[in-house]
Amino acid sequence: MNPPQTLELPTANALPQKNANPVQAMQQDYDNYSPDDFAVWQALFTRQAAQLPGRAHPLYLKCVGDVGFTASAIPRFTEVNEVLASCTGFEVVTVPGWIPEREFFSLLAQRRFPATTWLRSRANLDYTPEPDMFHDVYGHVPMLAVPAMADFLEGLARIALPHAQNPLIIELMARIYWFTVEFGLIQTVEGLRIYGAGILSSGGESAYCLSEVPARAPFDIQQIMATAFYKDRMQTLYFVLNSFEQLYHSLPEIERVVQVVTEVYNDARLQGLVERMATRAVLQLC
Ligand SMILES: [Fe+2]
Repeated sequence: MNPPQTLELPTANALPQKNANPVQAMQQDYDNYSPDDFAVWQALFTRQAAQLPGRAHPLYLKCVGDVGFTASAIPRFTEVNEVLASCTGFEVVTVPGWIPEREFFSLLAQRRFPATTWLRSRANLDYTPEPDMFHDVYGHVPMLAVPAMADFLEGLARIALPHAQNPLIIELMARIYWFTVEFGLIQTVEGLRIYGAGILSSGGESAYCLSEVPARAPFDIQQIMATAFYKDRMQTLYFVLNSFEQLYHSLPEIERVVQVVTEVYNDARLQGLVERMATRAVLQLC
């Protein structure tokens, strides 16, 4: 999924129960996939399978196999979910496309990951304005089997939930999601590797992000929160983790900054000021 644009979220205590899916119940209609759909999946899978060894993190590559992805078959969500359940307790749920951020974070907080079931056309293999199943499933699902990533996603969602009415917090959470879950890089003993789904599902960006062209900076929560992102072009800056544990252990820092920004936002003496301030300026008060 793309990161959230706006949020209206319930408090953590108002989280829906596991069986009370806020998204209208949908199922993957596997029999509805056409030969063209299978051809598109095969072409995209084959291209990334050739590109990602030596570029993607070894855990991602291992998990692509663990969840049973192959070039010849579009994944069945029921089969994928059996594997995820045993790894991290995550499950993929079917959504029609973009969903409201309230529902997006509510699902993540329950270890449910929303995914589309449609595939881009054969004529548009290189780009879709909206995330399709190849991005949602091939890009995201393998990392849902990694415990530190699963814990981070749930934790991030639970931090976001009580701040539904605060647009600054919404923007900060979107930036964190974007520069980690979607476009994150990680340092390994073998070199720099990709773990972000937006890169892993992109033929062009999976090579570009490791080239000499874009800038790279150490993973830093406040720096990420102070950095705007663009959806319609390749990134000019990537943030680099030392380990997946570093990502999970950043949650207390995220929560601390969120609390500070919330206090500033709610301070009546600063109301007029806050309304005029950009997120970057607010962060400088932290
Ligand atoms: Fe995504």
